[in-house]
Amino acid sequence: MEQQGFKTEQEAFWAGQFGDEYTGRNTGEAIIASNAALFAKILARTAGVRSILEFGANIGLNLLAIRKLLPQAGLSAIEINQKAIEQLKLIDGVKIHAMSVLDYRPQAQADLAFTKGLLIHINPQMLPALYKTIYDSSLRYICIAEYYNPAPVEVSYRGHAARLFKRDFAGEMLDAFADLRLVDYGFVYRRDPNFRQDDMTWFLMEKR
Ligand SMILES: C[S@@+](CC[C@H](N)C(=O)[O-])C[C@H]1O[C@@H](n2cnc3c(N)ncnc32)[C@H](O)[C@@H]1O
Repeated sequence: MEQQGFKTEQEAFWAGQFGDEYTGRNTGEAIIASNAALFAKILARTAGVRSILEFGANIGLNLLAIRKLLPQAGLSAIEINQKAIEQLKLIDGVKIHAMSVLDYRPQAQADLAFTKGLLIHINPQMLPALYKTIYDSSLRYICIAEYYNPAPVEVSYRGHAARLFKRDFAGEMLDAFADLRLVDYGFVYRRDPNFRQDDMTWFLMEKR
């Protein structure tokens, strides 16, 4: 299905009303604090990260957390939802690519390229090409923080079909790119007493 010039119905979903409502709903210091706790663990396993690119950044709640941890790092974001892009523009110095990640062609490589809660919403047929884009965008590190399942499954998302897919995204990238090495991985939990997150598994990989 093609809508609003997008290749997939999932892109139109995020560019449209659902994405606007998500953007209004997910905000606040508590989310930034949880993200800082998560990225402190991830970044502790890296060295020399001076540039970071997030695929599907929404209003920048990960980037704001990362800025507290690595104040000198250059930050970039790819985002499809216009309402979210307006918020991203309010963050000093973030380079914004206002487009679908499926249309993004890497211009410069970042020391760390990452996704968090983005690949689960991408049409699965598009994943191999998107993995390549993420790989090509990274100079050294790739982090994938998504809902994990050993085999691909589709799950209902807030009553919507074909909008949420779980699988071993990082494992598929490790299979696709021979020079990627797994550095570390971990789980974050919705019942965490201090730093709650959706139940996500993060994987940090490095080009070797
Ligand atoms: C579930 S939110 C996660 C936001 C953020 N990464 C976080 O961890 O809070 C998914 C984000 O990806 C964006 N998105 C979804 N599909 C996209 C696409 N094809 N290209 C660019 N952004 C996309 C949505 O607009 C939304 O901002």
